[in-house]
Amino acid sequence: MDLLDNINKDNLPKHLAIIMDGNGRWAKKQGLMRAFGHENGTKSVRKTVESCAKLGIENLTLYAFSTENWNRPKLEVDTLMKLLISSLKNELKTLVENNIKLHTIGNLEKLPKSAQKELLEVINKTKDNTRMTLTLALSYGSREELISAIKNISSKVKNNIISIDAIDESIINQHLYTQNLPDVDLLIRTSGEHRISNFLLWQIAYAELYFTDVLWPDFTEQNLYEAIISYQKRERRFGKTSEQIK
Ligand code: IPE
Ligand code: IPE
Ligand code: MG
Repeated sequence: MDLLDNINKDNLPKHLAIIMDGNGRWAKKQGLMRAFGHENGTKSVRKTVESCAKLGIENLTLYAFSTENWNRPKLEVDTLMKLLISSLKNELKTLVENNIKLHTIGNLEKLPKSAQKELLEVINKTKDNTRMTLTLALSYGSREELISAIKNISSKVKNNIISIDAIDESIINQHLYTQNLPDVDLLIRTSGEHRISNFLLWQIAYAELYFTDVLWPDFTEQNLYEAIISYQKRERRFGKTSEQIK
């Protein structure tokens, strides 16, 4: 049976975020170099992006490269940057055909110029697409994002653009990289690790968390559906009692 039949299209997460983890271990298990894991991981990215768009998910955010990942061996970082560039080249067509808009969060200035150029091109060519927003977190760290927000807000306070009393959740949201995105409803992490690794700390305040042992290159459509079905079975109470929700 296809798990897709068990998904309620009226109760999809509006914002799904995924920590795509386990590429290295996937390769190691088969005696291959880590790069093969990353390469095969891009296939899971394509399948997941297409499935989410078809399902009707409006916002998908993928953690592709963290601020901490810059500390990996140079060879691995270079491989990941090359894969990013080739994936952008190869996937533009898929994004256009599926009416998907590409967006990024993170400190893009740290990426190689060629990657920045490719990103800008794909962002520009998909900017009017409306079916789904695909956000790639690249050179992204939640703490760095918060520091940047705090600096921007502080400077506005100093210049009397906003008053201290006006600082609220909405002001903070407007100063994050994710300013145009709703809060995360469902966060998936693959590979059996149970941690957040500096991803969207503010934005997941009330997200449902879903952990699976599946390594990212093995992650299939059916695994995605399992996560969404688990999400749909949960009662999101936001601090209220169960009776209040019903
Ligand atoms: C995720 O897989 C990809 C990135 C972090 C870029 P990993 O490379 O972290 O794979 P493991 O966790 O070592 O197996
Ligand atoms: C998190 O995975 C970052 C991405 C998936 C891009 P890591 O593999 O880098 O995280 P840690 O080191 O296990 O926390
Ligand atoms: Mg990892």
